[in-house]
Amino acid sequence: MADRRSTKAKKKKKAATLTSRKSSRQKHPKSPLLAKDARNGAPGASRGKQFLSDKVGHFTESVIREMTRQAMLYGAVNLAQGFPDFSAPAEIKHAAQQAVAADVNQYAITWGAKNLRNAIARQMGVWQGITVDPEKEITVCCGSTEAMISTLLAVCNAGDEVVIFEPFYENYGPDSVLSGAKPKFVKLRPPTTDGGEWTFDEKELRRAFDKHTKAIIVNTPNNPTGKVFTRAELELIRDLCVEFNVLAITDEIYEHILYEGTEHLSMVTLDGMHERTVTINGMSKTYSVTGWRVGWAVAPERITNAIRKVHDFLTVGAPAPLQEAGAVALSLPPEYYAKLAEGYRVRRDHLMPSLTAAGFKCFRPRGAYYVMTDISAFGYKDDVSFAKYLVQEIGVATVPGSSFYRDPRDGARQVRFAFCKKPQTLDDAAHRLAKLRVTARP
Ligand SMILES: Cc1ncc(COP(=O)(O)O)c(C=O)c1O
Repeated sequence: MADRRSTKAKKKKKAATLTSRKSSRQKHPKSPLLAKDARNGAPGASRGKQFLSDKVGHFTESVIREMTRQAMLYGAVNLAQGFPDFSAPAEIKHAAQQAVAADVNQYAITWGAKNLRNAIARQMGVWQGITVDPEKEITVCCGSTEAMISTLLAVCNAGDEVVIFEPFYENYGPDSVLSGAKPKFVKLRPPTTDGGEWTFDEKELRRAFDKHTKAIIVNTPNNPTGKVFTRAELELIRDLCVEFNVLAITDEIYEHILYEGTEHLSMVTLDGMHERTVTINGMSKTYSVTGWRVGWAVAPERITNAIRKVHDFLTVGAPAPLQEAGAVALSLPPEYYAKLAEGYRVRRDHLMPSLTAAGFKCFRPRGAYYVMTDISAFGYKDDVSFAKYLVQEIGVATVPGSSFYRDPRDGARQVRFAFCKKPQTLDDAAHRLAKLRVTARP
């Protein structure tokens, strides 16, 4: 116990030294947790002529990734960043080893190894009934992250607008800004009843569309809310896309992580959407290999050609041996996916009761592996001060809700937990969270 306390004290001292060293070197603290003037696409302060692009002044470093660094600094349990702390499937690790041993170690075809593109096209047929031409309609990228930014760079011009539901996965804001487009946000409102759904207002969505709208980003199953968009909601979005001649760029990276029989529907399957949808997906979440950096964008030929050009000059290609392993991963039997979803259902139901017992109000996810919570009961000034207290004093890293909104005030009462972790990790977090005190009056 004494040992643990002295280690904790040492870590705190190290952190304090780092902070004071930093503040003596630079006037503006670099931590995105502290940089209030430039978050989520909001303009930063103008600093006259300088060597930096104006664009980077419009967003901060990722708060999610920063929370992982904070977790390491303070020895906290990392329920912030969405990566599994358990093993990837043995078959696909073996396939990657074999590919390296067989000398698949040089550049793959720029837009993706043939085996992987064929497997993606085949599985899109199996899972969603979509016919895809692997030669002309798929671009394999360095993760779905690169697929998203390559797509936005390929389709956006200065002055274009991109509609984004918020809370949103934090990359979309900076992605839009980097591509020269202006993000336009539409609110997803939290459920008002226990177990209810996150919803959006049809009129607000319609108001976001006009002649400048180039694209809408739809992330379903959704990070951070766990919302899975229904057919009716997707049809409503489809109608607006058709009426205003807008592209849908979908992020379906949690396609296989669904609970209670909830079904995932791909936007591209809806009438009228084939010619105006870019479907983005990847290996990270489905096969627990977030470090491999293999993802893809599927789009009509003309758009694919543009995405391929951007992708080529950004990265040349995704890791060749891991693409071969990807083809093996996409050949896993249906039981694999059923087990994956059930494993996450168990983890969700493991974590949520301890969060509720500690005083969090949980918004039950229908898909993906995060739970958004309301922190009003703890009486903190805002989500950032609460998240700092959690990581530094309680020993659990979360993501402050404000990092998922353009206006930090909208997320000031929320933090997000990731539950893609081993049972022991979730138990450890629960044990630490039990020390929290609820202070606010109901
Ligand atoms: C919605 C969403 N899209 C994309 C990503 C990143 O995916 P990739 O590892 O394929 O770049 C994440 C990771 O957390 C995510 O939550």
